[in-house]
Amino acid sequence: MLVFDQVDYYYRRGHPVLRQISFEIHQGEFISIIGGNGSGKSTLAKLMNGLLQPREGQIKLDYLNTLNYDDLGKIRELVGLVFQNPEDQFITTSVLDEVVFGLENLRVPRDEMAHRVNEALKAVHMEDYAEAMPHQLSGGQKQRVAIAAVLAMRPSILIFDEATSMLDPQGRSDILDVMHTLHRQGMTIIHITHHMEEILSADRVLLLSKGEFAFDGTPSVLFSSVSMTEHRLALPFAARLHQALGLDTPLSADWKETITTLWPMS
Ligand SMILES: Nc1ncnc2c1ncn2[C@@H]1O[C@H](COP(=O)(O)OP(=O)(O)O)[C@@H](O)[C@H]1O
Ligand SMILES: [Mg+2]
Repeated sequence: MLVFDQVDYYYRRGHPVLRQISFEIHQGEFISIIGGNGSGKSTLAKLMNGLLQPREGQIKLDYLNTLNYDDLGKIRELVGLVFQNPEDQFITTSVLDEVVFGLENLRVPRDEMAHRVNEALKAVHMEDYAEAMPHQLSGGQKQRVAIAAVLAMRPSILIFDEATSMLDPQGRSDILDVMHTLHRQGMTIIHITHHMEEILSADRVLLLSKGEFAFDGTPSVLFSSVSMTEHRLALPFAARLHQALGLDTPLSADWKETITTLWPMS
């Protein structure tokens, strides 16, 4: 379990970015975090894996604490972070090296390394590209390699910080498939996004606004109770359709499903 206990964060004293943030994330949850530009989503992600330390309060992952220097290595292994720009994330010259890189830092033995690399590339459907070089890959493929590099560390939590936002629809949909498959296998997924369509299938949505959580609940309840315009967020098509039709059935992640329940096709 990941626990934030009254966490404050600022980059510059007197300019708070996060204020008294408390929440818990349980193993196996699929969480979406949304919020306007500059609302502190990336800061929250970096606090989660110990890249940043809280100014006040504490962040615990089971028995580990990001304030303990000795725990940081383990925390960064257990909480994987995938960033927005696939270009920035490629640091080596081949897919294989990219996935091996992190494992070398962890001093994983050679034979186990081969096994982990294989497993990670398979999980993102990139096993046929082990010898490929970055320029031969699409943005979506690069992003999947970035995911494999993190997966090879065997994390229990995977954070995607707007990891789909620079991709074309196909690339985006491939990444979402990977997220959902990993989630089914028991991994905790934290998906930070401004694509409202993508949060419909989350177990729980956290809405960050002015350094605090303005909402913590299911996507259905979010769209029926919170003003999206007030938070400068767009209502997804499925939710607009649902509201326009005045439905009181649960909101479906797939708007086509809403249509077929109303007008069954024979
Ligand atoms: N390295 C930094 N130094 C100073 N201010 C920063 C830094 N990173 C982010 N900020 C500021 O912190 C606030 C939250 O940023 P961020 O967490 O990146 O928000 P989001 O990911 O929601 O867009 C913004 O006002 C941003 O300008
Ligand atoms: Mg951000």
